[in-house]
Amino acid sequence: MNEFADYLARELPKIEECLREHVAELNPYVRPAADHVLAAGGKRLRPLLTILTARALGLGEDEDVYPLACSLELLHSATLLHDDILDDAALRRGKPAAHTVFGTTHTILAGDALLALANSMVARYGKPVLTECLSNAIMKTVSGEIQEIAHIRDVALSMDSYLEIITGKTACLIQSACQAGALMAGAPQALADAAGDFGMNLGIAFQLVDDALDYTSPKEVSGKPKGSDIREGKLTLPLISYIASLDGEHRKRFTQAFKDDTLSEDQLVSALAAVASGGYAEQTRDMAASYLDKAGQCLEAFPDSAEARLLRAALEGMARRDK
Ligand code: FPP
Ligand code: MG
Repeated sequence: MNEFADYLARELPKIEECLREHVAELNPYVRPAADHVLAAGGKRLRPLLTILTARALGLGEDEDVYPLACSLELLHSATLLHDDILDDAALRRGKPAAHTVFGTTHTILAGDALLALANSMVARYGKPVLTECLSNAIMKTVSGEIQEIAHIRDVALSMDSYLEIITGKTACLIQSACQAGALMAGAPQALADAAGDFGMNLGIAFQLVDDALDYTSPKEVSGKPKGSDIREGKLTLPLISYIASLDGEHRKRFTQAFKDDTLSEDQLVSALAAVASGGYAEQTRDMAASYLDKAGQCLEAFPDSAEARLLRAALEGMARRDK
């Protein structure tokens, strides 16, 4: 077993145990939807990042970082419960999305309860900087999401706005996962900043890869239907690049139909194929690779340790990610 797999095998059961223990605090009416989203799996990337960053920056193995780490996973789970309602998504991680099982009202409230539980778990550390770190993550995630919604079917979306959206809705939470670890370790400001920058660049790369996979990864692998973004009216980098490649008349016809949500199934299928064959998903992955390089540079400030090496290995895993 390699070093990374070994570490995961040791840490994942502890993360799962901590999640189970805390979700058990929830009201029995809330629990089924919360259990549903957590049982569907997930990579537990955010808690792992908190644990690795904290230990890479000096936190002892005997210090209880798990509730802090798991609060980030609970916040992430809350956003997914709400996101699948907003996107009217039927599947999450290959399973029926919670709102299709428990109804919209119930699922919104379960998301709120998970959010409150995450806050409470962090507040119990009695460290305002940690509470502020989580609150920032919540505020920025919501802002990114609302900005994305404001630009649905907006074919004039600029590259800068697209990057602002993915930074807000995805990268800021991953940034906070790393910052939280650094704060818990009491790292000096320069290292806490490096940890935050590492998370930010990794998070942007994560969403770029996600946006590429939406055009290339089959449902059986990703757990969500291929082509969801174009159907949901989301302008992501592969589609932005594809539209830019079209000649005048074709571009006009395509963008008008996309804007009006009148693309036929045939048009959707051929646009999906054109994005894949034109290399636009690959280009998006190339851009992700440049953010992963920047994330790697941030790690140069970290003292050498098993955890710092594992954070670097996480970058390689992200570059290869297929689901
Ligand atoms: C997935 O993006 C969604 C997010 C990264 C963020 C969702 C955030 C909210 C709904 C904001 C408010 C929620 C709370 C509880 C603070 P995606 O739809 O592109 O990816 P997907 O294909 O995995 O659904
Ligand atoms: Mg979604």
